[in-house]
Amino acid sequence: MQLKNIILTPLVAATASGFPAAQSNTFGLVAIHSGSGVQNSGFNAAKSSIFTGLPSQNASCARPKEQDATFYINDGALYLYDQSATPQEIFVDRSGMGQGKIGYTTGAQPTPKNSERKGWAIKEDHIQFAGNDLIACPNSIDGAWSIWASAGVANPAGNKDCVGIAARVEKTSNPNGCLYTQ
Ligand SMILES: *[C@@H]1O[C@H](CO)[C@@H](O)[C@H](O)[C@H]1NC(C)=O
Repeated sequence: MQLKNIILTPLVAATASGFPAAQSNTFGLVAIHSGSGVQNSGFNAAKSSIFTGLPSQNASCARPKEQDATFYINDGALYLYDQSATPQEIFVDRSGMGQGKIGYTTGAQPTPKNSERKGWAIKEDHIQFAGNDLIACPNSIDGAWSIWASAGVANPAGNKDCVGIAARVEKTSNPNGCLYTQ
């Protein structure tokens, strides 16, 4: 019994951190909707939300000049990549209040009320939530577009001129670890 516990302890510790498996599956995301202002812009993470076209994320990164966010999927949940032990995990709120809001929590922050973690998957090199493509809305902070999940609302939360996008997965073998702002 004692011997078994000694052998298992390091294995459990490595799995709990999640990083050995995650590191080989990291990716950036690029919005695709030809003919719109969001076409080909990379996804960013800042202020507990997801954007494209932010001039500066203001994140604390291993390579600070890069302004694109790096993600990985673990068991259907989507995370922001970092080498530190502070996880930043995406949530989606498809309730009447959230209307498809995508945000992220940092460390031990609880999953917000009415929100979901699991449902992310890559289909033909594009990421989807619950089998649906994402939505981008213009005129967010710093001229960026805010990114939403589909909750059946074409212009969520009072936004205007939102467009459906395909979010193309761009795999990276040398991910930039960042702690993104809350
Ligand atoms: C980043 O910092 C600059 C300078 O303080 C600020 O103008 C900008 O709004 C910040 N962007 C984000 C996404 O926090």
